[in-house]
Amino acid sequence: MAKLIEFETERLHLRRWRSMDRVPFAALNSDPAVMEYFPAALDRAASDALATHAETAITENGWGFWAAQLKSSSEFVGCVGVGVPAADLPFSPCAEIAWRLAQEYWGKGLATEAARGALRIGFESLALPEIVSFTTVRNHRSRAVMEKIGMREADETFEHPGVPEGSALREHCLYRLTREQWISCDA
Ligand SMILES: CC(C)(COP(=O)(O)OP(=O)(O)OC[C@H]1O[C@@H](n2cnc3c(N)ncnc32)[C@H](O)[C@@H]1OP(=O)(O)O)[C@@H](O)C(=O)NCCC(=O)NCCS
Repeated sequence: MAKLIEFETERLHLRRWRSMDRVPFAALNSDPAVMEYFPAALDRAASDALATHAETAITENGWGFWAAQLKSSSEFVGCVGVGVPAADLPFSPCAEIAWRLAQEYWGKGLATEAARGALRIGFESLALPEIVSFTTVRNHRSRAVMEKIGMREADETFEHPGVPEGSALREHCLYRLTREQWISCDA
């Protein structure tokens, strides 16, 4: 078992998953607004499976998609972290940074704050050479986070193999950030 990495930002604690996270995680995964840019909302079983997957990766590797908790109230707000995508993507192998927050916490800069912390872990503690991020091209909220943390948009989009052919969500944009770029700008 790897050494557990957890970290704090100004307002958040990024930590391993707890069983009490599952109810609020299922609530956000069933919210059509949160899941607008995913092929489908998740039912409780699928949400729990995703939490288990994230929890297992953190237990085995020490890092992954952490549960994000507000320091001020201890409320679970969602998940943010760095992981290795299960899908075989045109730029695999890669490490991906990603985020998903409950709608009531949007627009407060929390995803950007957590993502900056996760990038720091990825580049400083894990010494990853590059971190990528991707989303369906119309997900401008998520793209704004990618841009605010200093990621650079790649020239080409790609078809995400996990999204059904013919779906308007299948075309994804890709953002990349190398360790050298991060060191030189530290966004
Ligand atoms: C994407 C997500 C994590 C952003 O969370 P957040 O905490 O609101 O993000 P932040 O507040 O840090 O930043 C959001 C930025 O997007 C901007 N934004 C919001 N709506 C936007 C839009 N339609 N177009 C462009 N930018 C937009 C905000 O203005 C903000 O930028 P600012 O701080 O410069 O004003 C959140 O919306 C979410 O969980 N969405 C559903 C899940 C998802 O799509 N995950 C990503 C899949 S790859």
